[in-house]
Amino acid sequence: MRIDVVTLFPEMFGVVRDLGVTGRAHAQGRWALHAWNPRDFTSDPHRTVDDRPYGGGPGMVMMAAPLEAAVNAAQAARQAQGLGPAPVALLAPVGKRYDQAGAEALAASDGLILICGRYEGVDQRFIERCVTHEISLGDFVLSGGEIAALAVIDAAVRLLPGVLNDGDSALQDSFNKTLSGLLDSPHYTRPEVYEGVSVPAPLLSGHHANILRWRRERSLALTAARRPELIESARAQGGLSLADERFLAELAGEPLPPLPAKRRRSAKPRTA
Ligand SMILES: C[S@@+](CC[C@H](N)C(=O)[O-])C[C@H]1O[C@@H](n2cnc3c(N)ncnc32)[C@H](O)[C@@H]1O
Repeated sequence: MRIDVVTLFPEMFGVVRDLGVTGRAHAQGRWALHAWNPRDFTSDPHRTVDDRPYGGGPGMVMMAAPLEAAVNAAQAARQAQGLGPAPVALLAPVGKRYDQAGAEALAASDGLILICGRYEGVDQRFIERCVTHEISLGDFVLSGGEIAALAVIDAAVRLLPGVLNDGDSALQDSFNKTLSGLLDSPHYTRPEVYEGVSVPAPLLSGHHANILRWRRERSLALTAARRPELIESARAQGGLSLADERFLAELAGEPLPPLPAKRRRSAKPRTA
């Protein structure tokens, strides 16, 4: 996967290129990062990339031409490497909210070109000419697109094959299909008792099935309390077992769904 970022602050991307899990993966050649500074695509002595907004108002707006030239340079470099035209995603509060499905789609692709806005934003004509997607990190306003781009990159790179040490660890994370898209369960490590609070008994039992069931129930309880819509979507996709439904009904104080017919029959009193 190759990521190209168009940014006035290329040095900010050392965070994902050089550090931690993403830095190790970059050093191993599992993904590549290329930064393009719009200032390098200007022709005036001041290397101007922004100007006052038409119609007045506060702040400055990023000019279309240096951004478009940077995108063209990134596409040409990708093409020289044998890659096809990449999607061009502008980080923007007005964009579609980035989520785990977006990270998975990015990790399964050849990558993309990310545009980091600054100031009041970027000239709309650049968006209309060059941008294929607009991505938001959430309903808040950052000073620039770089921090949002770092989050987009990090969430995708950790899903690339071989990036996480324990191959399964991404599977156990919140929103993963393996967890039916639910939230993750709580985690504990040593000491066994911390400030008088013990690790929950099932985790100390060594009984694999009980540990799995405890984790599943904590995951269901947390999701039901904080993100009930994720329970609904897991249910709609057939991701909840009868045991899950019984646990959720018990949690909500509702009548329990019946056990499967075979177990109900064996529960009948014997007549012989
Ligand atoms: C100060 S913001 C501009 C906000 C813009 N005037 C608005 O109200 O939508 C500067 C840049 O930060 C980035 N940005 C800010 N908040 C963001 C968010 N929630 N998600 C993604 N990018 C964001 C965008 O690239 C934006 O162009």
